[in-house]
Amino acid sequence: MASTEPYRVVVLVSGSGTNLQAIIDELHLPDDSGVTCALVVSSHAGVAALDRAAAAGIRTEVVAMVDHPDRAGRDRALAEIVSGATPDLVVLAGFMSILTGAFLDRFPDRVINLHPSLLPAFAGVDAIGQALAWGARITGVTVHFAEEEVDAGPPILQEAVPVPYDRSADALTSRIREAEHRLLPSAIRLFAEGRVSRDPSDRRRVIITEVQSR
Ligand code: GAR
Repeated sequence: MASTEPYRVVVLVSGSGTNLQAIIDELHLPDDSGVTCALVVSSHAGVAALDRAAAAGIRTEVVAMVDHPDRAGRDRALAEIVSGATPDLVVLAGFMSILTGAFLDRFPDRVINLHPSLLPAFAGVDAIGQALAWGARITGVTVHFAEEEVDAGPPILQEAVPVPYDRSADALTSRIREAEHRLLPSAIRLFAEGRVSRDPSDRRRVIITEVQSR
């Protein structure tokens, strides 16, 4: 029987790793998904995301800013480690550190980021707090191509999330997480199916092909 190689994903994390867990449960563990998580790299040691990866038998590494003289040096070291895992796609799933061209240029159009708002609204840190402070009634989740300008790359998938009437930060955070846990695995699946590309004549335009019906 012809065997096809699984689609290889490397996931970069910094904290609790609930989105990594969604990738593990939806894509890495099921034998028929065609996707494997080849490596998890954290910007910090001792975070729960590393335990989640280890529990699923996924190799882990830590590449911390404090071990490098500057950001470009950290990014070169990170790129070497990620490149060693031969990824088809690099996924920033709660990776809370800015990446420079020293990293991003090594994986053109192959790095995606998850952000807890409907970009371009509420870019940057504490997007959920920003949405609440602004009084938004709707916020959401964006999966987008990562570029050097933070949270500015073109969107691949977005999902709207209503802000609860009582404006509870906890309730909004759990609504956002639920949407993230759907959207990020869906985006990775689209890449693995070869359905995502960027229009060469307008690089802000992300093309997602429909499944051909026979
Ligand atoms: C997620 O909400 C993700 O959107 C956010 O960090 C959280 C990580 O949660 N990322 C950003 O804000 C990036 N700008 P997790 O560690 O439980 O997956």
